[in-house]
Amino acid sequence: MSTENIKFAYWVPNVSGGLVVSNIEQRTSWDIDYNRKLAQIAEKAGFEYALSQIRFTAGYGAEFQHESVSFSHALLAATTKLKVIAAILPGPWNPVLAAKQLATIDLLTEGRVAVNIVSGWFRGEFTAIGEHWLDHDERYRRSKEFIEALKGIWTQDNFTYRGDFYRFSNYTLKPKPLQQPHPEIFQGGSSRAARDNAASVSDWYFTNGNTVEGIKAQVDDIRAKAAANNHSVKVGVNAFVIARDTEEEARAVLKEIIDKANPEAVNAFGHEVKNAGAASPEKEGNWAKSTFEDLVQYNDGFKTNLIGTPQQIAERIVELKAVGVDLILSGFLHFQEEVAYFGEKVLPLVRELEAKKLAKAA
Ligand SMILES: Cc1cc2nc3c(=O)[nH]c(=O)nc-3n(C[C@H](O)[C@H](O)[C@H](O)COP(=O)(O)O)c2cc1C
Repeated sequence: MSTENIKFAYWVPNVSGGLVVSNIEQRTSWDIDYNRKLAQIAEKAGFEYALSQIRFTAGYGAEFQHESVSFSHALLAATTKLKVIAAILPGPWNPVLAAKQLATIDLLTEGRVAVNIVSGWFRGEFTAIGEHWLDHDERYRRSKEFIEALKGIWTQDNFTYRGDFYRFSNYTLKPKPLQQPHPEIFQGGSSRAARDNAASVSDWYFTNGNTVEGIKAQVDDIRAKAAANNHSVKVGVNAFVIARDTEEEARAVLKEIIDKANPEAVNAFGHEVKNAGAASPEKEGNWAKSTFEDLVQYNDGFKTNLIGTPQQIAERIVELKAVGVDLILSGFLHFQEEVAYFGEKVLPLVRELEAKKLAKAA
């Protein structure tokens, strides 16, 4: 098991409607004042990262969406320690714009920006904004070139690159970002193409929520492939956290979220994301095995089962760490209150269990 402490990130609610497709009451807001305060609460609570979302249109909730890079910068300006991961979608962004924008933000924020390269799952969004909807594996091939170009621009002078999607000739970015060798690059998915990219070019791999066994299978596959490529990659797993003083309370909240789900939106979202994955050669993807209940949380966060008392959740997190997980990406119903509760009640227990395990191993 890693000797490093497991890290925590939270989803930035920069789109409306929260992280569940449900009509349950949510005391979470997508506005900037709410989010600045949340970022301050989170860094105080022990969260190291915040992950912003990029969406150009509404779809299955998310009626309003703030843009991810500018929003991330605002959160960095409101905090002193937190790293904010800005989501970027190749297509609308090209690598030179992303490299320049993020290098500037990195310099303005003492080296605290990171990036999540997303590959797209929503055909309607691409059509609405006049972007070509590439085949599943082509989307990942483009993301791979995007990441190679970002790294090249950030680390080399006279960068020259000849890809199928991007080309550079003797390009020198000045100034380079503050972080060396470059800001961290995250990338997400669950399909073979997503895992292959992680095992060759990304610093971090994000995946949807899953059981410990399901996560272990992905981690083992990625780490074996990365080793063959002489590359190392860390793994972050999504989880929707419902921590309450008793397990009954936590389970009742889950039941209420699902009972109040909007069936039309959940089914339409399920149709969309399953189609996106089914178009891969392996006919799989992030949501291949997701049930109706799973899909009520956009990224299968209930499956990770961080639902119960602080002790139950802490034990589960340490189990995930034992199979190779480096970071928990968490979502909450009422973000501000629950991030604070997590920092106060769950995180200290995780640190205790980690220390005990390490002492035992030694
Ligand atoms: C943690 C995480 C965050 C993501 N954030 C976004 C996002 O902000 N915008 C977006 O369009 N897609 C986002 N995605 C979708 C992925 O980039 C990818 O398109 C999707 O997971 C399909 O994966 P598949 O290849 O396994 O089917 C995210 C995925 C994960 C796991």
